[in-house]
Amino acid sequence: MAAIPYFKAEKIADGSWMIKNAFVDQSYAICYLIEGRDFALLIDSIIGLGNLKAFCGTLTDKPVKLVNTHAHSDHVGGNFHFDECWIHHRDIGFFQTCIGIRKEQLFEMAKQTSLPEYRDQIEPDDNFADWNPMKVFPLYDGDVFDLGDRTIEVVEVGGHTAGSIVLIDHKTRIAYTGDACNGNTLLEFSNSLPIISYMRNLLHLKEHQQEFDQMYGGHETFDASLVDEAIETVAKVIAGTDDRCERTGILGGPVLYAAEKVMDGYERVDGKRFNMSYIPSKVLSGGETRQVIRAE
Ligand SMILES: [Fe+2]
Repeated sequence: MAAIPYFKAEKIADGSWMIKNAFVDQSYAICYLIEGRDFALLIDSIIGLGNLKAFCGTLTDKPVKLVNTHAHSDHVGGNFHFDECWIHHRDIGFFQTCIGIRKEQLFEMAKQTSLPEYRDQIEPDDNFADWNPMKVFPLYDGDVFDLGDRTIEVVEVGGHTAGSIVLIDHKTRIAYTGDACNGNTLLEFSNSLPIISYMRNLLHLKEHQQEFDQMYGGHETFDASLVDEAIETVAKVIAGTDDRCERTGILGGPVLYAAEKVMDGYERVDGKRFNMSYIPSKVLSGGETRQVIRAE
């Protein structure tokens, strides 16, 4: 019986792979492996279905370090196959909400999402890992992963979450963008930053725009010009001149999308690509550089 293809990898550049789940109809999230002379860097661990650490070992014989673009569960779900990870310091607290994830939950999720031909083969084996205590190292803007023959730079682009980052591979001119800037940039979460802070961080990304050509995200890919569409669109939100397209948010409440979407669809009616959801009360509110610790 053929092994379950938990993952598939596509080479996107020299020593660089895009990795997706392959046993499902459509992989929900994307992660990336970059091989250097001294070690390989895994960017995100997607949702935790399959032994990603073992799969990386089929692509590289270098030791693998894990970095997360942010702490959402579809980017950190496979972390617990590893002993340590790097996360921007402002997302480390949120990462702790993963505590308690059981391998049985992931096993059930795999059963539910699997293509029919693999469903009966899925076993609660080492393709699934319980939450376990792991070392979490904080990242700061400007930090660099030195892989020996290539450097990957951390650029803080908080907005989607307070600690969202973009990782720029200077060798291949690829920016790995997580969920920081894409066609459905969700800024509606409780730990999303106010829109004016997101604008500040997009302008910081703009400072680096000459260093990359492609933006490989956690769900989509774009060319670097998306940054300009993002800045243009966010400026309209701050000025109150955006399209204010009413939709139901991912958490079930009302949100606004900055750019009008086609009826019941994803694309913008004007053909541009960047879009974002937001809560109107969180456009200009301040205090974004500080944490607010509440009762719950
Ligand atoms: Fe996310």
